[in-house]
Amino acid sequence: MNVTGRAMSGAAPVLELENVSLELGERTILRDTSLRVNQGEFIGVLGPNGAGKTTLMRAVLGLVPAAGGTIRVLGEPVMRGNPSIGYMPQTRSALAGRRVRGRDFVAMAADGHRWGLPHADAKTRADVERVLELVGGRALAARPLSELSGGERQRLLLAQCLLGNPKLLLLDEPLISLDPHHQKSVVELVRNVQQELGIAVLFSAHELNPLLHALDRVLYLGSGVAALGTVDEVITRPVLSRLYGSPIDVMRVNGRIFVMSGDVEVEKHDHEHEDDHHHHGGESGHAHSHGHAHGHAKGHAKTHHHPSHDGHTNDV
Ligand SMILES: Nc1ncnc2c1ncn2[C@@H]1O[C@H](COP(=O)(O)OP(=O)(O)OP(=O)(O)O)[C@@H](O)[C@H]1O
Ligand SMILES: [Mg+2]
Repeated sequence: MNVTGRAMSGAAPVLELENVSLELGERTILRDTSLRVNQGEFIGVLGPNGAGKTTLMRAVLGLVPAAGGTIRVLGEPVMRGNPSIGYMPQTRSALAGRRVRGRDFVAMAADGHRWGLPHADAKTRADVERVLELVGGRALAARPLSELSGGERQRLLLAQCLLGNPKLLLLDEPLISLDPHHQKSVVELVRNVQQELGIAVLFSAHELNPLLHALDRVLYLGSGVAALGTVDEVITRPVLSRLYGSPIDVMRVNGRIFVMSGDVEVEKHDHEHEDDHHHHGGESGHAHSHGHAHGHAKGHAKTHHHPSHDGHTNDV
């Protein structure tokens, strides 16, 4: 397929939520939400810790059943193991120590070939070479994972997601623990591949700015509500105040956008790798990838909003 998403706007949506509610235990993650993502769209998925970004992706994969409503992918109800979807999960820190070579690592994700290339058939090998080429990963193919930078490993993870020609990529926090330079190159890489293949991407992140020039629309989650639209439609004081359950200001400075609660920038607190003055280096791969769902890193902001109390604070 070599048509762009915009030219295909009449085609079936790649993802459709119809009156969807998502619940985990006692928690309402999403309440009666309807939205459509079109083929060829790059969607930035934002929202505070615990807003439900990961849960939404898992629901699209059929790993979390909807408590109500219907989720469709390319017109079909969700199902586990859907080959139309490529998924990069949020928790990836275990990768850093592995000696496996880049090419074998990519091949490990190929369906039915969990033992790497020596056992893969010709079709799988060709697909592995194709995705390595797509992500510019040829030079990484012979090197062990443990010797690659975070950004280089991210390339290979993206290659894995592209095996089998998916039409929808779910990338959960690909920028976590990358420095700003690597963040930029990962966003550019995903954008290029997405446009080249004409596929749709949901790309979750804690900050809007690294995605600003790449995204077509934003899906912002919070308080059990989802807002999908252009940056100008969604990143506004009324919409975000509703999602955060407290007054939010939006500031635009030199082409960057800052989402503020009082004098605190709400998107920033958990992933301080953008700030060199913070004492935690981002590269060590420590528990950032999963342990923060309760918003502990937002300590300075907590009198203003409680992201972990999502689902019950919609009555601003
Ligand atoms: N199995 C579970 N049972 C009950 N609650 C859960 C379960 N798994 C996750 N949660 C809660 O559901 C909410 C949504 O979690 P989710 O991981 O989807 O958020 P997120 O937006 O991806 O957050 P983060 O930015 O931290 O990755 C969180 O409050 C989390 O604590
Ligand atoms: Mg998450």
